[in-house]
Amino acid sequence: KQLKINLKEIEKGKYKYFMLKEIYEQPKTILDTLRGRLLIPEKIIYIDGIESNKDIFINAKCITIVACGTSWHASLIGEYLLEELTRIRVEVEYASEFRYRNPIVGKKDIVIVISQSGETADTLAALKLAKKKGAFVFGICNVVGSSIARNVDAGAYTHAGPEISVASTKAFTAQITVLVLLALIIGKYRSTINDRCYEFLCKELGSIPGKVDYALKTDDTIKKISQVYHNANHFLYLGRGINFPVALEGALKLKEISYIHAEGYPAAEMKHGPIALVDENMPVFVIATKKGYYNKIIGNIQEIKARKGKIIAIVNEGDIQVNMLADHVIKIPNISEILSPLITVIPLQLFAYQIAYIRGKNVDQPRNLAKSVTVE
Ligand code: G6P
Repeated sequence: KQLKINLKEIEKGKYKYFMLKEIYEQPKTILDTLRGRLLIPEKIIYIDGIESNKDIFINAKCITIVACGTSWHASLIGEYLLEELTRIRVEVEYASEFRYRNPIVGKKDIVIVISQSGETADTLAALKLAKKKGAFVFGICNVVGSSIARNVDAGAYTHAGPEISVASTKAFTAQITVLVLLALIIGKYRSTINDRCYEFLCKELGSIPGKVDYALKTDDTIKKISQVYHNANHFLYLGRGINFPVALEGALKLKEISYIHAEGYPAAEMKHGPIALVDENMPVFVIATKKGYYNKIIGNIQEIKARKGKIIAIVNEGDIQVNMLADHVIKIPNISEILSPLITVIPLQLFAYQIAYIRGKNVDQPRNLAKSVTVE
């Protein structure tokens, strides 16, 4: 008798879908992205593509980051990271907009292109346009030898390994990890961060894989919350500061695989529109970690509660105030605000997965979407 082997099934191991497998791989993939680059005892961060272009980064006046989809959300996080740690002005653009609007980019400017596949048509076209205008183009790609990786002036791979699920998860956290390394290296070159802060963040970064592992343990809580809300028609996702792009990413994940309408917003923008949508049928995810904008976020939660909205809050271990206000809390470990997207996104990825799974959707291959968009 011939044994039929389905390689894809074997690769999935104990997981029903690649997406779940890839979510769970993140402690390892982040470690792989850091490997050989972050040397904690020596307090050294080294990436060849940055070191060999040191002067370009030191003298940069502006950095433009160009990407699509989830990579665009990583770019927005990059904007917060780079501006905070390097004090260089950063602009983030959708590749599809950048390529058609005669952007102001010239010699000495840095354009960073971010792409998991390295094949996205709009991002590749944006890259070529930036090069034609004389910019120095730095790539952050996952797929080794991809078109974008081959066309940039320099770059850093994310090392997340093959990502099969259409909805990107581990590539996203790997992109953020590279952006953190990039921001720390340039910040050190330019002396825009002091040694104490640099060393502290290096240590914190080293603790991320373990903390991601811990954040994955929220899965049981998330399964229970998903049972309550899998029939909802709309979701809001709110975050502030560096966690605003995480709110966008949480909403995108839900839309992509469960086909539920979801919107991400900076929490304070609620009052300029979305609050009109809030009633007892509107579940609202709030990223309410202890650092940063905690008191402001509490105010936003109270506004939603006053309109009977349901609050699902992502909080730090030991949180008291939000715990008392929210309908559900998901507890994640403490980490510096600037590194927190690497942790806060984990429950949002798990939630999107669980909802899609309960709704019986094809998680890895959602309708109308492709892993790599090689046409306009
Ligand atoms: C598609 C995928 C997304 C991805 C986006 C950008 O829409 O479905 O998951 O974020 O393309 O892809 P890239 O490979 O350039 O990161």
